This record gives sequence, C-alpha cells and structure tokens, in this order.
Amino acid sequence: MDDTRFNTPGEQRKIDSVAADILRNVRINRSFILWMGFLATLLALCLFAYVIQLRQGLGVTGLRDYTSWGMYIANFVFFVATSLVGMGCHSLDGSKLVGPSFAGLYGSQRSVTEGNTEKTEIADEAYIVSSIYDPNKEIVVGYARNLMQSYRDILTVENIAIMTEYLKTLRITRL
Ligand code: HEM
Repeated sequence: MDDTRFNTPGEQRKIDSVAADILRNVRINRSFILWMGFLATLLALCLFAYVIQLRQGLGVTGLRDYTSWGMYIANFVFFVATSLVGMGCHSLDGSKLVGPSFAGLYGSQRSVTEGNTEKTEIADEAYIVSSIYDPNKEIVVGYARNLMQSYRDILTVENIAIMTEYLKTLRITRL
C-alpha cells in the first residue's frame, strides 16, 4: 500500500471482509428457510394490520392518544428530515447538489485540492473512507469546504464498506 492511500491495513482487511460477505452466494439451508418463513409470517401480519387500518382508519392504531401520536410524529419527522438532508447533499442521478453526485463516482478520476495543490485521485475504497472521515482534507474541485462534516464517530469502516458496495452499483455516467 503506498502513502497516498489513507486506510490502515486493518481498515483495508475489514473492508475486504465486508465486501466478500456481501458478495458471497446465499446458502439455502435449514436456518435460511426458517428465517425466511419467520419473515414471511411477519410480513403477512403487517399486511393484515395494514388492511385493518385501511378499512377502519388510523384511529385503530391508538393515534388518538397523545403519547402514541407523539411517538409516531417524532419518528416520522426524524426519518423524513434525515432522508431530506441526505437527498439535499448527494444525488444518485448525476445532478450536482451541495456535494458531488454518487452516480458513477466509484472508480472514477476525481480532481481534488489539498491545501493549494490540485491533484487527481481515483475514487477507490481508500478514497471513499477518507472523504467520509476527513471530508475537508481534500476538496473536490467545484465544491465548497466545511459543508460536509466528518462521520468518523458515526460510521464504522464496516458501514462505509457496505455503502461502497452500493456505490459500485451506481455505474451511471456522471452529468
Ligand atoms: C453519510 C452521509 C454522507 C456520505 C457517505 C458522504 C460521502 C461523500 C463522498 C464519498 C464524497 C467525495 C465525493 C466525490 O469525490 O465526488 C463527499 C463529498 C462531499 N460531500 Fe458528502 N457525504 C455525506 C453527507 C454529506 C452531507 C450531509 C453534505 C452536505 C451538508 C455533504 C456535502 C459534501 C460536499 C460539499 C462534498 C464535496 C467537498 C469535499 O470533497 O469534501 N455530504 N461526500
């Protein structure tokens, strides 16, 4: 590993093991079938509850009570706001928002500035980890500094490895 890469060998090993785990074939054995059966039953129960709500109105869920209404709204607003913040910064369709799009990002050449030096980097695993842990170290040309904050204390290397596998699937040409 050369010094322009930011991952330690430990981090790289974690990334590789997550990638291998995500990409391995599913083994259809007894526990897999039991687990799928359990999930299918859960899904059927949820669909049943949904039909009851649809026919009798949301009141059957106990939403007239302040506590359950409060929990419902707080969760709803939390998830809507979280998705909105994410959507406002990085698009998946190539359009430029506050930050660069994730479309076609993985494996592409990135022009970045570090201090006063402009250079080119390949967006590989190490680059993605570094962009998320140290977003203001290298700034993608055309974007502002200090907008994206570090996710070092929020996302583990394993979390990022899973996201990177997703980024690899976004092979749409960048606009
Ligand atoms: C978990 C959430 C996030 C992830 C995984 C993430 C990931 C990334 C990655 C991989 C890059 C490098 C992109 C490239 O080379 O084209 C980047 C850059 C950037 N992100 Fe994010 N981001 C996140 C949240 C945000 C948020 C919430 C904002 C807006 C407030 C933001 C704004 C930016 C900006 C302005 C850049 C370009 C400047 C720079 O290189 O630091 N990001 N982000």
